[in-house]
Amino acid sequence: MEQNMIRFAIIGTEGIGRSHEKGMQGVPNAKVTAVCDINEEYAKKAAVRNGLDKYYTDYKEMLKDGGFDCVIVCTPDKFHRDQSVDSLNAGYHVLCEKPLTMTLEECEDIVNAAKKSKKIFMVGQVCRKTPGFVLAKQMVDQGEIGELFLVESEYAHDYSILERGEWRKDPEYLRHPVVGGGCHAMDLLRWIAGDPTEVFAYANHKVLTDWPVDDCTIAIMKYPNNVIGKVMTSIGCKRPYTMRTCLYGDKGTIIVDNTSPEMTIYKTFKNEATGKTKYLPMQVPIAINNHNMTAEIQDMCDVISGKIELDMDAIVGANTVALCLAAVESAATGKPVTPKYFH
Ligand SMILES: NC(=O)c1ccc[n+]([C@@H]2O[C@H](COP(=O)([O-])OP(=O)(O)OC[C@H]3O[C@@H](n4cnc5c(N)ncnc54)[C@H](O)[C@@H]3O)[C@@H](O)[C@H]2O)c1
Repeated sequence: MEQNMIRFAIIGTEGIGRSHEKGMQGVPNAKVTAVCDINEEYAKKAAVRNGLDKYYTDYKEMLKDGGFDCVIVCTPDKFHRDQSVDSLNAGYHVLCEKPLTMTLEECEDIVNAAKKSKKIFMVGQVCRKTPGFVLAKQMVDQGEIGELFLVESEYAHDYSILERGEWRKDPEYLRHPVVGGGCHAMDLLRWIAGDPTEVFAYANHKVLTDWPVDDCTIAIMKYPNNVIGKVMTSIGCKRPYTMRTCLYGDKGTIIVDNTSPEMTIYKTFKNEATGKTKYLPMQVPIAINNHNMTAEIQDMCDVISGKIELDMDAIVGANTVALCLAAVESAATGKPVTPKYFH
């Protein structure tokens, strides 16, 4: 086996578990050495795909047997807490899919287990690895568009055409779309503009009327340094999935998403000959990669090997959930809400 090879176990092998498996093919020092799915057919297929002679339907059995360094938790949100905490306590590193969990209590359990553990815990807020968003953040940090004053993002999806994932509409669990999917856009703006101090939201329920939760929410927020912003979450909108994002600074504007091959940057340009000021759009080509698991897993390997610092820790995941839950509470109460962040 290659030196410094990091061995991964996946819990939840269909859906996003497959994206992790595929992403791993781009990481030379990573490989899948154990798989678990509650659905035996899925587990068996994953074992075949990865050349393994064993598979599990109970993750606790897999944790007992070992043979891996890091567990990737790719199951529906309601399993994230137990599977992450048990994996950390069993002595494994953990990469857990977003949203970290659905409640602050569950987040707290993961944050505490991660603090106690000597192992690495990473949350999969993968938009922080999406090429267009990475470049946009770099440009903002380098002052390319001057002082930020307004940030906008969205999570626009149509869950009625998803082929899998019926659990998303389980009335027992009430997965709110702002936490479940909107967390991508909420997290993206937190990453770029900081932690909002206050959120106010409106929601409605006009498209996916057979779902047990509001299907569209708009949240407006106050960010540090007097930046204001908004995030729209819709899981019923009639358009292909995208996360259109606009970042406005006093010297320029960036328009970027995760599903287009280019981003647009506007800057003012003064024509000295005519004396007129114009907006020059600059189109920058971008690799479309809205599930950049290769970068996420490469980072996990590099953190485990001590080559880089961990950036997406449990508190990052928990604070994104805290912000999303504040938006949900605001829409329900009609009042502005201060998010309950973890430290
Ligand atoms: N990063 C992203 O952009 C992204 C995209 C999609 C989903 N996700 C997240 O990934 C998670 C899974 O979503 P999905 O779309 O892959 O769902 P899915 O339903 O398509 O797949 C979930 C898999 O987990 C298995 N499973 C369910 N309960 C299990 C259990 N208790 N033990 C073991 N296996 C179990 C299922 O059989 C299935 O194979 C969710 O938390 C979701 O939010 C993230």
